[in-house]
Amino acid sequence: MRHQNSARLAWFSGAVKNRFAVFVGVLALAALTISAAAAADTLATLRGNAINQEASAPAMAKEINTDLRTVRNYPEQPPTITHQTRGYAINLQANKCLSCHSRRAVERSQAPMVSVTHFMDRDGQVLSSVTPRRYFCDQCHVPQLDAKPLVANDFIDADALIMAKGN
Ligand code: HEC
Ligand code: HEC
Repeated sequence: MRHQNSARLAWFSGAVKNRFAVFVGVLALAALTISAAAAADTLATLRGNAINQEASAPAMAKEINTDLRTVRNYPEQPPTITHQTRGYAINLQANKCLSCHSRRAVERSQAPMVSVTHFMDRDGQVLSSVTPRRYFCDQCHVPQLDAKPLVANDFIDADALIMAKGN
């Protein structure tokens, strides 16, 4: 009997310890959440103004229009657009981009032709005209602005990475 009691006591104190551990865990989690919220507060200052003040809009950046091709960060990257695209409509009736980049337009425009992947349907079949999947050019190709990046970018080109590893 006495033996049983002490076993129960041991179980009881074990349970209390467990609950205490859970309690400490919850406290630690709460502290983490609060500190994460504080960190989020400091990150949210891209806006640069107090919450009750309206910031003045930053000056609009210029669209890069150098006609100079940019390096692709990896071979499958859709190349960025080297010229301005303001007012270039892409809709059911017209595709301004194709008026220079289609197979037949390049002789006149001297623009690079859309590559053969743009003629492939989803089964890899090469069509005679640009596939609907590649019709909306600005889904993948974007012009660039001479704006300062909002956050730093530490992207490393694959070639640079291989060199750094000495392979
Ligand atoms: C008036 C003709 C013309 C129109 C319209 C035009 N482009 Fe171009 N595009 C060019 C020429 C020419 C080049 C070659 C470099 C240069 O002159 O900018 C070029 C370059 C590019 C490049 C870079 C290709 C590479 O290999 O680096 C992309 C991407 C591109 N254009 C996409 C577009 C998209 C998307 C549109 C429609 C929103 C468009 N272009 C409309 C003439 C045109
Ligand atoms: C679904 C994404 C996507 C769409 C939509 C798209 N492209 Fe591309 N484009 C790419 C990718 C990816 C590449 C690079 C690899 C390749 O050639 O497929 C590329 C390459 C190009 C190139 C360079 C070709 C070369 O041989 O150097 C031109 C020019 C181009 N696209 C123009 C266009 C035009 C104009 C349109 C609209 C009619 C368009 N693209 C629609 C993804 C896209």
